[in-house]
Amino acid sequence: MEGLHPDVESIVLSEDDISQIVQRMGAEIGADYEGRNPLIVAVLRGAVVFTADLMRAIHCQLGVDFMAVSSYGDGTKSSGVVRIVKDLDTRIEGRDVLIVEDILDSGLTLSYLMKNLESRKPRSLEVAAFLVKDIPGKTPAVHPRYVGAHVPDAFIVGYGLDFAERYRNLPYIGVLKPEVYS
Ligand code: XMP
Ligand code: MG
Repeated sequence: MEGLHPDVESIVLSEDDISQIVQRMGAEIGADYEGRNPLIVAVLRGAVVFTADLMRAIHCQLGVDFMAVSSYGDGTKSSGVVRIVKDLDTRIEGRDVLIVEDILDSGLTLSYLMKNLESRKPRSLEVAAFLVKDIPGKTPAVHPRYVGAHVPDAFIVGYGLDFAERYRNLPYIGVLKPEVYS
């Protein structure tokens, strides 16, 4: 692996860690959805990298589509008030739908998205979150069926996750140095 990015304080998950997690999740999802042709719904843009790896680790028939949401709020914390910027091109009525998210923090974004998709009457609706932030004293609004790893309450970048659209291309998950965003 190349050297650590100078803005990254420490590595939380290496490329090898990530690949093991993705293989484990893919095998589990593939077994659960065998014969059901699920629709994987990736939430743009952060989940794109994880989705691209995860879908290749799922060995049952599936489809993939994308949604983009923007949350109104004070900028850094999600408010749960979400606007759909790009909707699905696929009808999901009667379909097994699996939302793929990069990171679950408060869960407010996802909880809005789930209510919205639920109203379209899918056959089932589940969430696969690559990361779940562990915030002491706080329980997220959504409980993902599939979880990759738990991470501490720090600002995490890489493997699709950004700060101001940077660092998405880092192949590992790392903690951003606080001086970079403060
Ligand atoms: P909520 O609180 O609604 O927020 O679950 C989820 C969304 O917030 C973003 N997010 C992060 N993005 N590093 C990031 O790059 C982080 O540490 C982080 N925490 C939350 C992310 O877009 C996620 O979909
Ligand atoms: Mg972001």
